[in-house]
Amino acid sequence: MSENIYLIGFMGSGKSTLGKEIATTLDYNWVDLDHYIEAHQKTTIKELFDRFGESTFRKLETSSLKDLIPKRQLVVSTGGGIIVTPENISLLKSQTTFYLKWHFDTLYNRVCDDKNRPLVKSYEQLLALYNKREQLYKEACTKVIACEGKSIEVITQEIIRLMEVEDENSSY
Ligand code: S3P
Repeated sequence: MSENIYLIGFMGSGKSTLGKEIATTLDYNWVDLDHYIEAHQKTTIKELFDRFGESTFRKLETSSLKDLIPKRQLVVSTGGGIIVTPENISLLKSQTTFYLKWHFDTLYNRVCDDKNRPLVKSYEQLLALYNKREQLYKEACTKVIACEGKSIEVITQEIIRLMEVEDENSSY
């Protein structure tokens, strides 16, 4: 097993928490794409949105994703909007990408008070965004993980098992 693992899903789906867990279990390195962008740009995501707008952020998101693809043994936690850029969908689809799927209300309760997420607005606006993106996550992933009602540990084990199965199959 050496390929990178990419985690995608809406805001609040636990991409970072799970990414760290999976990386520790597999002895991979963990990269959070938002942190990667912030470190390279020496600013915050909120500041990037406020000063330069979402489209500048999206370009940085694609170039950062492209930086990481040639590397090995990484677990990459992406930002929730990675799939709004069509190029990213084909990049992710060509990799091992898990879509962490939760019910909207679970996600809303986790992110509704977060002032650092520039796209978190009213319940209705966020629900519309979720509905618009749902199909894009499915297009970009290689496997949907139904997360509702499961603990981080259970989801981690599910993903590790899928990686092991893929590895066993590819060694024949
Ligand atoms: C975004 C999600 C955020 C961050 C940015 C845009 C989105 O990441 O990349 O605020 O468009 O959904 P998280 O999913 O980690 O909150």
